[in-house]
Amino acid sequence: MKIAVFASGNGSNFEAIAEAVETGEIQGEIVMLFSDQPDAYAIERAKRRDIPVISFSPKSCSSKTDYELRILHFLHGYQVELIVLAGYMRIIGETLLSSFPSRIINIHPSLLPAFPGKSGIQDAFKAGVAESGVTVHYVDQGIDTGPIIAQVRVPIHPNDTLAAFEERIHQAEHQLYPRVIQEIIQCRKEDRKS
Ligand code: GRF
Repeated sequence: MKIAVFASGNGSNFEAIAEAVETGEIQGEIVMLFSDQPDAYAIERAKRRDIPVISFSPKSCSSKTDYELRILHFLHGYQVELIVLAGYMRIIGETLLSSFPSRIINIHPSLLPAFPGKSGIQDAFKAGVAESGVTVHYVDQGIDTGPIIAQVRVPIHPNDTLAAFEERIHQAEHQLYPRVIQEIIQCRKEDRKS
């Protein structure tokens, strides 16, 4: 299966997925990385792996529809079948949603529906809950609202620091996301057979 990863920042999840492709844990191929942030570290990671990078900001487009049509042009060019959001900090609009129905997934660092939004890790930590976690879900028009595919729990210990908890969350993400991507690939293969 041909995968596009969308990332706006560090790209550690992109890296975990790329490694899983290399080891064969994911039976697919990352055919492109898209970033809306030309200086995102994820771009460096993709270049090091010779994965094609497409990067432009919505500011360079006349509307959100134009922006997504431009992205769509590349997705079609690379024959992308699955879009994997990995720290992509923009809401997906109707143009991409309707072109990739049930084919856009996202990872969020909390047990949704708890702590949606940009600071799921900090919000859970500040709330003083005993556990949070990681969610992989299909993307719909809302913010972190689409149907949940998988979740893992991550404890918050009594004397935890935010940094230690954050690290534990990211480790959980790096294990969960490749596993879920491979499960989706496997399910689609079986669907095609039946
Ligand atoms: C992750 O915590 C992910 O859950 C959230 O954004 C962060 C991206 O981290 N959506 P990275 O860029 O993959 O390191």
